[in-house]
Amino acid sequence: MNIILLGPPGAGKGTQARRLEEARGLVQLSTGDMLREARASGTEMGKRVAEVMDRGELVTDEIVIGLIREKLEGAEAPGFIFDGFPRTLAQADALDALMRETGARLDAVIEMEVDDEALVRRITGRATCAGCGEVYNDETKPIPADGKCAKCGGTEFKRREDDNEESLRQRLMEYYKKTSPLIGYYYAKGALFRVDGLQEIDAVAAEIDAVLDGKG
Ligand code: AP5
Ligand code: ZN
Repeated sequence: MNIILLGPPGAGKGTQARRLEEARGLVQLSTGDMLREARASGTEMGKRVAEVMDRGELVTDEIVIGLIREKLEGAEAPGFIFDGFPRTLAQADALDALMRETGARLDAVIEMEVDDEALVRRITGRATCAGCGEVYNDETKPIPADGKCAKCGGTEFKRREDDNEESLRQRLMEYYKKTSPLIGYYYAKGALFRVDGLQEIDAVAAEIDAVLDGKG
């Protein structure tokens, strides 16, 4: 099963992708995580994209399509959860072509709808476990009182460089201008399912499950 999670920054794509990995044995492909890994390891590409990411702008199609191609060609998995990809029409066309090449089928595009006000609260309150990547939120999913990650026991938590109000404003603008046209693109293909992302994490998960089980 191959799924795309589509939604603005802070919609909960990463949170739900990690859950789907555990629940369904699918593999999460997050271009945001891949780009952050590249910058942390100091590769040439990582250095080039760092400033672009911190400003909240989109990295070039060429770079992210290259990253996804590498992963799809190298992996053996029962299916993928695309998290934060595609983000432009060019990326969607490239994914379409890649899936045709590998004979894979796109089962569902889940659009996670959340209003801007909630997105700001979610993004400015986010912290991620440095050990295992579990995502926390000061308001809605606080780090346990003993300061240890509930998943791995780690005690180091990171806040992202682009999780400030100024970068977020730019990320939202990019989303509405370049990514939201994908809603119509996938609707026209009959692949789009809309989920109310404003609900609690478990309720969002249940709605996604209902969509995917209907596709079963
Ligand atoms: P990326 O890493 O993809 O970031 P994003 O799209 O801005 O999404 P986020 O990771 O911020 O949010 P999310 O939807 O995953 O939410 P999360 O689950 O963490 O991209 C970063 C940058 O990389 C881009 O700006 C761009 O520069 C570059 N890039 C990446 N992909 C690219 C591409 N394809 N093309 C070009 N450039 C690309 O949740 C957020 C918070 O809310 C957490 O604290 C969480 O605990 C909380 N939360 C989650 N769900 C709920 C809920 N239901 N109720 C309450 N709180 C919740
Ligand atoms: Zn952890």
